[in-house]
Amino acid sequence: MRRMVAETRLHPADFILPAFVREGVGEPVPIGAMPGVVQHTRDSLKKAAVEAAEAGVSGIMLFGVPEDAKKDALGTAGTDPDGILQVALRDVRAEVGDDLLVMADLCLDEFTDHGHCGVLDDQGRVDNDATLERYAEMAQVQADAGAHVVGPSGMMDGQIGVIRDALDQIGREDVAILAYTAKYSSAFFGPFREAVGSSLRGDRQTYQQDPANWRESLRELALDLEEGADMVMVKPAGPYLDVLARVADAVDVPVAAYQVSGEYAMIEAAAEKGWIDRDRAILEALTGIKRAGARTILTYWATEVARTLD
Ligand code: PBG
Repeated sequence: MRRMVAETRLHPADFILPAFVREGVGEPVPIGAMPGVVQHTRDSLKKAAVEAAEAGVSGIMLFGVPEDAKKDALGTAGTDPDGILQVALRDVRAEVGDDLLVMADLCLDEFTDHGHCGVLDDQGRVDNDATLERYAEMAQVQADAGAHVVGPSGMMDGQIGVIRDALDQIGREDVAILAYTAKYSSAFFGPFREAVGSSLRGDRQTYQQDPANWRESLRELALDLEEGADMVMVKPAGPYLDVLARVADAVDVPVAAYQVSGEYAMIEAAAEKGWIDRDRAILEALTGIKRAGARTILTYWATEVARTLD
């Protein structure tokens, strides 16, 4: 009877797999703070994409990890057609075609030597408008490399409008924008820093939201929609279910939530210690995110969970 009356069901198509691809490695590199997640080689990434598609997962969100020597102040590797993210986009598209939605993280932090999501002014502050120019170019390069969807995650003001214009200018009205709309300055991104070999010192408090606030999420939401977002995201997911529910109530576009690295790490760590039932905790966390209003969930467990659902 519980099965019959359940209001929330998980389905493989609910999930997007975030995946890391690292330049210049011969073997996948395990990420210590995210047991079970690796920095992929180009080959192992292709395999992971095929496995996700076979499990019925909807999409894959790619993050590039360049060689340290290729990081610079402008994040040039992020717009180089031969940069690791662009190479990986082409690899994955060649492998899966349209069987899996191929998405690209559109942000500079993986490619800058200072680790910020944008470029800096002469006083070392993130320069919003100079960053927008970099994002416009990045969107075009990612579209050329085969991204079906771009995911701007840098929280710069005006980023969605600039990216939409840049894509339209090169005739890519077909590339959709998944906007990281309500992204909080969160401690739960901790393990991700290791995952992308981040060079960041300091924090992102000047451009990411304050965990104390939900109103500004609705303001960010209105702006993103006006500027042309096709889908919107709340991130992290678990600690922000109230924000997610409010955003889902307020819009008629698809809403995504990102269960981030720290949410993943907490369950894996507690399970490793035998303090929690891992599989039940994973399903409960994901069900809660969907119940709160997410149409789509980005989760590092995407393929594993999708396989258990069909
Ligand atoms: C920025 C970006 C971050 C994450 C996704 N995109 C890091 C940040 O904003 O500090 C975090 C994802 C996670 O923690 O799983 N490119």
